[in-house]
Amino acid sequence: MRYTSGFVAAALLGAAVAAPVAQWGDWESSSSGSDGASPSATVSPPLGPPAPLKSGNPFSFPLSNGFPNLNAAELNATEEQAHGIEPNGGAPTLKPDDLTSFRLIAFNELFEVAFFTDLLFNLTENVAGFTIADSTTRQMVINAITAIQAQEELHADNANKILAANGQAPIQPCQYVFPSSTLDEALAFAKTFTDVVMGTLQDVQFHLATNGDDGPVPIIGSVIGQEGEQTGFFRYFGGLVPSELPFLTRSSREFAFSVLNQAVVVKGSCPNSNLIDLPVFLPLTINTSPIAAEDQTLSFSVTVDKSSPPAGLSIVYINSQSVPIVENITNAVLSNGVATFDAFFPYSEYLLNGLTIVALTNSTGPFTDAEDVAKATIAGPGLIEIN
Ligand SMILES: *[C@@H]1O[C@H](CO)[C@@H](O)[C@H](O)[C@H]1NC(C)=O
Ligand SMILES: *[C@@H]1O[C@H](CO)[C@@H](O)[C@H](O)[C@H]1NC(C)=O
Ligand SMILES: *[C@@H]1O[C@H](CO)[C@@H](O)[C@H](O)[C@H]1NC(C)=O
Ligand SMILES: *[C@@H]1O[C@H](CO)[C@@H](O)[C@H](O)[C@H]1NC(C)=O
Repeated sequence: MRYTSGFVAAALLGAAVAAPVAQWGDWESSSSGSDGASPSATVSPPLGPPAPLKSGNPFSFPLSNGFPNLNAAELNATEEQAHGIEPNGGAPTLKPDDLTSFRLIAFNELFEVAFFTDLLFNLTENVAGFTIADSTTRQMVINAITAIQAQEELHADNANKILAANGQAPIQPCQYVFPSSTLDEALAFAKTFTDVVMGTLQDVQFHLATNGDDGPVPIIGSVIGQEGEQTGFFRYFGGLVPSELPFLTRSSREFAFSVLNQAVVVKGSCPNSNLIDLPVFLPLTINTSPIAAEDQTLSFSVTVDKSSPPAGLSIVYINSQSVPIVENITNAVLSNGVATFDAFFPYSEYLLNGLTIVALTNSTGPFTDAEDVAKATIAGPGLIEIN
């Protein structure tokens, strides 16, 4: 298996599971009554025809229903599974910068389809690590992931249709690797990448508004809420409160494109991701794990090709809708092409819960927002999830 970004995926997964969470089994046992009877004994099977099951790690397309190319009957079946249909108004005409956003959305949603298709396979086939003893709970989870899998197909299909309506080539799927080998890990990982997506769609809305392409802003808003419903489910089943922060963490298109390429895309497997005009930064590894909900100094490393690191490096934390937090790096050591260094993590001053995006920048700022940070980023994003 060509797991080229294995260490990054492991770091990402480490971040995703860093916070202490109740284990799946705890939820299961606490939710059944003392007599062992479940509070809701019957759960209907998922809506629509059977979901297109497929597995693989690395995972490759197409699915058994033809996705990413759905004919009318296959689209109909997917909409039934998804509980709804795609937007049916006229497609918006977009400026080049917003076409970049929709290419990135398609690129990300194709990965999400791969992930949830594989997760649904593992659940349905009772793959080791993905079994759920209580049949009611198992059916609830299968129903949820069946709907999410189909909903992600429609998100990807819709983004590519908007590109096609603008005379642009659709983004084609790559091959993907998944770092999760248990259900708890898979849901924690899904929570983390969905948090990044929700932050990135804020940036997409900002670009649409700035470029005068306000038409799709409501559609993007509807997807942010939809993805938030998903993370509420992932969080609750991980023993966390469903709603993460009063104001979700902002991200930028550059960070989303970078982390997908670093952590889940099989290098060299993307037919046309070169059409996406965004940078892929160097991976930034967070060595400290787990990361507790407290003030502390974190250790980081990055692979460098220079004998001495450039001057003026800072670590920047992006959380919530706060102004990015800039910290000095200390204890920098360069050994065998890997720079290792420390930076303070000011948890308590800013209540750095939920997703925090970390970047190594060549500027001390000040920075106004995530995209401003991305313009000075050398390596990142590191992803920290607390509570
Ligand atoms: C799917 O096809 C069935 C049978 O033709 C039809 O009744 C249903 O309305 C279609 N659903 C959608 C969402 O198009
Ligand atoms: C499904 O299980 C396989 C085998 O353990 C694992 O490699 C893969 O990552 C799992 N898929 C997901 C989405 O967690
Ligand atoms: C970073 O270092 C500079 C120079 O020593 C100092 O002035 C500044 O206060 C430091 N910043 C932080 C956030 O500690
Ligand atoms: C800082 O990094 C940005 C983004 O990678 C790059 O465009 C810029 O040239 C760098 N500036 C310096 C002074 O190295």
